[in-house]
This record gives sequence, C-alpha cells and structure tokens, in this order.
Amino acid sequence: MARLEGKVAVVTGGAQGIGAAYSKKLAEEGARVCIADLVDGGPVVRVIEQSGGRAIAVTCDVARESDTERMVSDTVAAFGRLDILVANAGLYTHIARMKATEISVEDWDQVMAVNVRGVWLSAKAAIPEMQKNGYGKIINIASSVSFKGAPGLTHYGASKAAVLGITRSMAREFGGDGICINAIAPGPTETETGLAAETEEMRARRVKSAQDRALKRNGLPEDLVGLCVFLASADSDFMTGQTVVVDGGGIMW
Ligand SMILES: NC(=O)c1ccc[n+]([C@@H]2O[C@H](COP(=O)([O-])OP(=O)(O)OC[C@H]3O[C@@H](n4cnc5c(N)ncnc54)[C@H](O)[C@@H]3O)[C@@H](O)[C@H]2O)c1
Repeated sequence: MARLEGKVAVVTGGAQGIGAAYSKKLAEEGARVCIADLVDGGPVVRVIEQSGGRAIAVTCDVARESDTERMVSDTVAAFGRLDILVANAGLYTHIARMKATEISVEDWDQVMAVNVRGVWLSAKAAIPEMQKNGYGKIINIASSVSFKGAPGLTHYGASKAAVLGITRSMAREFGGDGICINAIAPGPTETETGLAAETEEMRARRVKSAQDRALKRNGLPEDLVGLCVFLASADSDFMTGQTVVVDGGGIMW
C-alpha cells in the first residue's frame, strides 16, 4: 500500500526544481498535494493527475502571511484536511554570489524574508490544521551550506542555519500536539533551473565539489525524495527536531 494514502500535503516552491520532485513523489505515495509557488504549479498538477493522483496549484509568496494562510485554507477547502507541509520554497538558484562586505541590506532582507520568514509563516499557517487531527509532519528544507559555509553566500548560509533553529524550537513546542518537525539539508543538487542559470565559474565549482564527496557525484532531486517520504510518513513518528544531510557524504556529523 502507498505510504501516504489518505494524507494531504502542501509543498511550497513545488512548481519547479526539487520541490516539483517532492510533489510528484508524495502524490505517487498516495498523498493529495497542494503546490504553492510564486510561479504556476499547473504543469506539475497535470503530471500528477495523468498518473492518477490529485493535486491543486495555489499562487503564493511564502514571505506574505495572507498568502500562506490562503495556501492552507485553499488546501483544506479542496481536500478537507492538512497532514504534511514541505517548506521547500527558497531563494537559492538566482542569488548573486558576492562577498559579505558587498551584500546590500535589501538583498540580505529579501533572502531572510523568503528562506526564514517563509518557513516560519508556512508552519504558522499549517499547524492549527494539524492540531485539529493531533498529528502532522513538517519537513523544512535547509542546506549543507548551513554546516559547511559557502563563500559568496553568507546571507543564504545564515538563512539556512536559521532553518535548523526554527526546526528545533518548533519541534519542542509542538511535539505535544503529535506534530513532528524535521529538516532535510541537501548538498548541491542539479536541477533544470539551476543548470540553466549556471555560470562557467559555478560549473567548475560544481564539478570540483563532486570530487570532495564520499560518493563522487552531485545530487539529483530523486536523491532527496525518499527521505522526504520517510519524514512525511508514519515510519518517522518517533523522530523530531532532526536535520538530515543528503549530500553523498560531503558532510559527516
Ligand atoms: N539545488 C540545490 O543545490 C540546493 C541545495 C541545498 C538546498 N536547496 C534548497 O532546496 C530548495 C529548492 O531548491 P531548488 O534548487 O529546487 O530551487 P529552484 O529555484 O529550482 O526552485 C525554487 C522554487 O521556489 C519558488 N519560490 C521562490 N521564492 C518563493 C516565494 N517567495 N514563495 C513561493 N515560492 C517561491 C520558485 O518559484 C521555485 O519554483 C530551496 O529551499 C533551496 O535553498 C537547494
């Protein structure tokens, strides 16, 4: 039997990249899925429906509280409940790399608004629905950069380290409601959008970084979806507040 039969999931940033892979895999495991994204999630909805699953797309900026509230109310209106949140939306692919001494306050605040406030607001909107069922699964998306650091990405690294802090504090707050809150920290993961935006320098860094891992390659979205399903399913019911690095053994802790 599919592991998420009867469950309802929201995936933020689910229209493209790794989020689209999470959305399709959760649907494959039986979940009905809401794809909440700034861009149109319709193409992913159609892929899910063509495979016999059910999904909706909601236009949402996770940095805006009214949008995250609507993302949850539209999901409940369509599917009657909410069990799983994958807080995946994040600014990464299109962040210009620059030294911390050159990052503007505006760029800093924009990264924090999406990657930190957006993760908190998504959980803030989802938790009351989960409390009604006395059960829920929140999977926040961090990054291996929060462990390793990355030159040119101080704002991004800080934002993803904050995701670990949100995960731990909220896991302690809502464990009594039966809500498990964990994080996935992916290493460099090759997506269509990422490869299309890549400069020569980024490509050279990506090729080199593959050689620094125990498993000598970079990740693909498919490398992350199994852990996402595990954290969304009853298989992980006694696990909360944890961050799992999936980067082919680049970081070991
Ligand atoms: N690709 C990697 O190498 C990598 C590594 C570690 C962590 N991550 C994290 O994984 C997540 C997905 O990354 P990706 O590579 O698939 O990125 P991506 O840029 O391909 O996709 C991100 C998605 O989030 C959406 N999004 C952006 N801002 C949003 C907002 N304010 N509200 C709603 N949706 C918004 C985008 O429209 C897009 O569909 C991000 O949190 C990223 O930081 C990625």
